Amino acid sequence: METYLNQGIKDVIGQFPVVGDILGEYDIGCVPCAVGSCLLKDIISIHGLSQDDERSLMARISGVIYPDQAPAAPIPVTETKPRPAAETPGCSPPMQKLVNEHVLIMRLIALIPRITENLDVQSKEGRQLIMEGVDFIRTFADRCHHAKEEDILLEYFDGTMDIIKTIREDHQTGRAHVRATVEALEAGDKAAVRQHLAAYGELLTEHIAKEDRILYPWMERQLSAPQIEELFARFSEKDDEFGDAAVRYEALIDRLEREFA
Ligand SMILES: [Fe+2]
Ligand SMILES: [Fe+2]
Repeated sequence: METYLNQGIKDVIGQFPVVGDILGEYDIGCVPCAVGSCLLKDIISIHGLSQDDERSLMARISGVIYPDQAPAAPIPVTETKPRPAAETPGCSPPMQKLVNEHVLIMRLIALIPRITENLDVQSKEGRQLIMEGVDFIRTFADRCHHAKEEDILLEYFDGTMDIIKTIREDHQTGRAHVRATVEALEAGDKAAVRQHLAAYGELLTEHIAKEDRILYPWMERQLSAPQIEELFARFSEKDDEFGDAAVRYEALIDRLEREFA
């Protein structure tokens, strides 16, 4: 079993497709995940299952991989100290700050289909509207929010882990879509503006769900109380760099929601 614990999850599912179905029953969505290079042992650890769920999950996977063997003793994949169940991860002040920022980012993303539906990229007003959205994404979502993740939060963790690499890659892909949006706008290419903003919205929706549901709860369990305190102080320093940005950008979203209701 040790061999499979250290194998990429897509490889394991490739050899034993039923493993993907079993993980899905525990709300672990490795089959639809576009990356899927996480190791099986990391998947079990990161999703913060209760110890009972972890034991039964591992027994079922073991039964699929070694159908002719008698059920093995529970395999200790994660630490044995008591942990909260995944449904009740708790949310410390610094993580709550990030989750609240996600809410505002998701409000902008929800507006993208309506904003781009009747967009006039030839008019000054149409271009200004897109640039307001781009400014929100670049300043609030990227320089303020993603910078808190990349420059502060992720630095507390092993950067070689697939989940950490995936988070950084998602941010880069998002930036590429924003650059392409601006280029398309300058070229007056409405279809490309719509395409890149839609792709950005899709990417960030999945990315934020991954962070809220999996990454942040897992990180909460790894960080010590002093680290959580330090994190909050460093996030607050980052917020100070942006002054009243949170208030200004919330006002922008309020206005766009009224305009595109
Ligand atoms: Fe992120
Ligand atoms: Fe985030």
